[in-house]
Amino acid sequence: MRASVIYHNRTTYELLMRGLYGRHYGARYRAIADLIPDGASVVDLCCGPATLYTGYLRERGVEYTGLDLNAGFVARLNASGGTGAVWNMHSDEPLPTADYVLMQASLYHFLPDPAPVLNRMLAAARKQVIIAEPVRNLASSDNKVLAAVARRFTDAGEGAEEHRFTETSLDAFLDRYADRVEQRSLIAGGREKLYVLSA
Ligand SMILES: C[S@@+](CC[C@H](N)C(=O)[O-])C[C@H]1O[C@@H](n2cnc3c(N)ncnc32)[C@H](O)[C@@H]1O
Repeated sequence: MRASVIYHNRTTYELLMRGLYGRHYGARYRAIADLIPDGASVVDLCCGPATLYTGYLRERGVEYTGLDLNAGFVARLNASGGTGAVWNMHSDEPLPTADYVLMQASLYHFLPDPAPVLNRMLAAARKQVIIAEPVRNLASSDNKVLAAVARRFTDAGEGAEEHRFTETSLDAFLDRYADRVEQRSLIAGGREKLYVLSA
């Protein structure tokens, strides 16, 4: 199945993300980059165009691996100095290990039960797992037209998805890992919620 238009290339994706996040666009990446020490190793799942790497981590000597279903994004990452691999996160293959294993704006792809994905992330991380997930988005809008358009245009190639997190449902999911949660906070003007879990 063909991915929706926002995933066709990096420029389209970034324009739409900038439109969606407005002045908070940079803050969503900075919130994660600030948690990662210089020279650490990182595996970024569903990395998209790897803006976290090219804009924030590359200059700090971070050893970055990005995994994504989208071969175009992965090729760009490899060309820009990181290590990218095409990977379907629905596969139960163990993930590459790293100090920090993270996922931003993508856990909703694994609803209704994202636990197997988070469990694989915890198994692969040596230090911490970082999750940042939208908790306010058009796809869960009460406006049915807007919601349908948002779902349609965030199809990664596996079909339009019906579900998104709210802050309440995301908190409820992460409460299952309460003994590991070291930090939780809203970022990017309240559009995403960030969780840091001990490995
Ligand atoms: C909203 S984008 C987030 C990209 C990036 N993490 C960011 O925050 O800018 C979601 C990404 O998840 C990827 N994706 C969706 N389903 C996937 C799957 N089953 N396995 C791997 N990647 C997937 C898409 O190709 C897309 O690049």
